[in-house]
Formats: sequence, structure tokens, C-alpha cells
Amino acid sequence: MMKVNTNDKNQMKNGLGDDAFNRQLNIKENIIYKITVQNNEVPVLPDHKTVLDSLEAADIETHSHCRDGFCGVCRVTLISGEIHYPNGEPLAYVGDDEILPCCCIASSDLCLGID
Ligand code: FES
Repeated sequence: MMKVNTNDKNQMKNGLGDDAFNRQLNIKENIIYKITVQNNEVPVLPDHKTVLDSLEAADIETHSHCRDGFCGVCRVTLISGEIHYPNGEPLAYVGDDEILPCCCIASSDLCLGID
């Protein structure tokens, strides 16, 4: 778990009310990994079951249909980082530099490309 030092807390507190500050602090303390996509940094939090959950929680526009690795609609480019498919390799076609965010989880910070 990530520790937040006093300087970070003071920087986060600037301009935020107590509730907003506590929400931001809670998110920052629980970030597992970060996903860089479309000039945004998206936190991967413990309650996110998939990379798609993280993207949707951050309001990143994504495509999805089956949400189970069958259709391939959610396919995105993996620019850097490591993922794994906890339920085994998906059935939909996935190119060498592509992942299906609906059924994978991050194993490191990720950089993704979404068309
Ligand atoms: S939504 Fe169908 S494979 Fe991801």
C-alpha cells in the first residue's frame, strides 16, 4: 500500500473541502497501479475487477459488449506494462500488442492506446 507523506497531504488539501480531501486521500492511499491513457492517469483501485472497471470509473470512453472475452469489442493497444487474464486466455482474437480490458487485470502500471 502506498504511503502519503505530509507534503502530499498539504498539496492535496489545497482547494478541497474535508470530504473531497478525504476521498482524494483514500483513493491515493489505495492505488495499486496507474493506467496512462489519452493523456489521463487512471488509478487501479482494489475494488476494480478488471482494467475496464478502472477505465470506466475514470469516465474514459471505452467500448464493450460481452464483458467476458468473447466479442473483442473492448480491444485496446497495450503500449507498455503487464496484464494477465485471471480466467485464462480470452476466446476473442487479440493481436500481439492488444489486450481485452474487460477480462484482464493490471500486473504493473499500464500505458494504453484507445482508438
Ligand atoms: S467486451 Fe467483449 S471481449 Fe471485451
